[in-house]
Amino acid sequence: MTPAERRRRLLAAGFALPLLAWRTGAAQGLRPTPACGADGTAPSATPPQTAGPYYMPNSPQRGVLVEAGDSAPRLLLVGRVLTTACRPVAGALLDVWHCDAEGHYDNAGFRHRGHLFADASGAYRLETIVPGLYPGRTRHIHIRVQAPNGRPLTTQLYFPEEPDNAGDGLWQRRLEITFAPRAGAPAQAGRFDFVLDG
Ligand SMILES: [Fe+2]
Repeated sequence: MTPAERRRRLLAAGFALPLLAWRTGAAQGLRPTPACGADGTAPSATPPQTAGPYYMPNSPQRGVLVEAGDSAPRLLLVGRVLTTACRPVAGALLDVWHCDAEGHYDNAGFRHRGHLFADASGAYRLETIVPGLYPGRTRHIHIRVQAPNGRPLTTQLYFPEEPDNAGDGLWQRRLEITFAPRAGAPAQAGRFDFVLDG
């Protein structure tokens, strides 16, 4: 992909405003992606996916899942939680878990596990590492998103252009994080907007 093509893709994915927000240090206050109602159609709900065997309740509340000693590339993930009517889901709960850089889940403690809440505009901000790989799966992040008093949406997020995506029966392009290049740390900055039914 040429730089011009990449830029067009990012703009089409609604990166211009969020990227500006990151550059100015204002990660909060992200505007809805243009896809959300801009063409007169309501966005479809984010597809659910299996939680897999490694979910653990009662994770600590924190927006940073970088652990002491982590040397893996950092990942900044931002976005919003919206309804299918494009309304922000203020205070939405986001419960995140993923494997470490070596592909291992912490099933005894809470490394790379945590929950956080969207702000009044539905915006969230998560700092973590790029998870590793384990046999049978492509690179992914597990997440459960829930409106206050709403039903939880359990799904998984994926990374574009991963060699193992096509061979993973769970992977969906619709669930890929959109990335933009960003100078400085974290090494990768991505965006994903969750759309909840109702
Ligand atoms: Fe997993």
